[in-house]
Amino acid sequence: MPGPGAFWVGEEEKQAIAEVLESQYLFRFGDVNNPKFLQKTAALEREAERVFKCKYALATTSGTASLLSSLFAVGIKPGDEVIVPAYTYLATYTAVIFLGGIPVLAEVDDSLTIDPEEIKKKITPKTKAILPVHMLGNLSQMDAILDIAKEHGLAVVEDSCQAVGATYRGKSAGTIGDVGAMSLNFFKTITTGEGGMVVTDNPEYYERAFEFHHQGTPSEREGTRNLGVIGINFRSNEVTAAFALAQLAKLPALVERLHYVKDKFKGYLSQIPGLKFRTLNDERGESAAVCVVVLDSAEETKKIGALLGTGPIQESGWHVYSNMDHINAFLKEHGQPYGYGAYPRTDDLMARTIALSVGVVDAGLGAGFGVNVLSSDEEIEAKARQFEEAYRKVKSEQ
Ligand SMILES: Cc1ncc(COP(=O)(O)O)c(C=O)c1O
Repeated sequence: MPGPGAFWVGEEEKQAIAEVLESQYLFRFGDVNNPKFLQKTAALEREAERVFKCKYALATTSGTASLLSSLFAVGIKPGDEVIVPAYTYLATYTAVIFLGGIPVLAEVDDSLTIDPEEIKKKITPKTKAILPVHMLGNLSQMDAILDIAKEHGLAVVEDSCQAVGATYRGKSAGTIGDVGAMSLNFFKTITTGEGGMVVTDNPEYYERAFEFHHQGTPSEREGTRNLGVIGINFRSNEVTAAFALAQLAKLPALVERLHYVKDKFKGYLSQIPGLKFRTLNDERGESAAVCVVVLDSAEETKKIGALLGTGPIQESGWHVYSNMDHINAFLKEHGQPYGYGAYPRTDDLMARTIALSVGVVDAGLGAGFGVNVLSSDEEIEAKARQFEEAYRKVKSEQ
């Protein structure tokens, strides 16, 4: 089951892709005087710069590619430590590890994003960057994180893969720190099946990310320069870019729809006495992909989840550090706390929260039950009542 953008794939995407196929020119670079070369990737990047209000956007092949390019851009090298939350998708950790860095985990707070106070405890002379992850569309506490980064001279790379379309104090997710990584995979706010984007206002970081993603080749953007890096191939292509342009055009309406659905759904859920929700660091700015309920005990969370065919976030596989055996083996090897129990506050929150879908319907994310952007008002109410019934049943049995 997909993210909200996938529910809205239609004629616009079909036409955009057909236009590129008819042109028969699929590579993102080429002779601009060749009428077959439609320059969709460049157009996507300029449009992303406009929509997200940043100086530079770079299309890539995935969120993971964007994270690697972003971390490379800020200069992460072997042995560098990068502070990351204990609740995130495994790609956040693997991106750091692939550059030779060491992910240093920190507890999340009840917003399910990294706790700034915990970041402070994790800073060592080897720390080079902070990597906040805007989990489930909720922005991290960026003001506090930027203050810490400034005080300690650290870079801030935002993992905005799950927060495309979200804002924090009016700024787009990904454009608040030094560099931001977005994902356009099947489960994200907007999608091209697979895809990604790097965003930044910093010309040097842009250039490094560009060269890294294009086998070390310098960009042709004005004011940038060749840093001569050893790169890789994370380039997008004209078909994906045309698809992404069509999805990007739908982003504002999609986020508006997500908020409409969530307001309705959460409105019903809020009437359930005693039911709590996770903290939102910018309530109107979140992308409203899910609605996270916080329950009183791990036991009742499991029981309510079971009645709804879902489970606590703890059971969302490779989104929770304690479920990642290979990452824990790496952490152990590098003298970092590892395994279940290493981050008790995160463990407790993971066991007592359920992510109800609003737009991202993804059992792998723990959001297997709920509504979606196509749900009617009646369906939204019915799903909320179904949750209420399960909640009351479990509570009455205690
Ligand atoms: C928080 C987070 N970071 C990174 C990624 C990686 O994105 P992609 O699957 O596009 O490589 C994802 C994707 O699920 C994610 O949720």
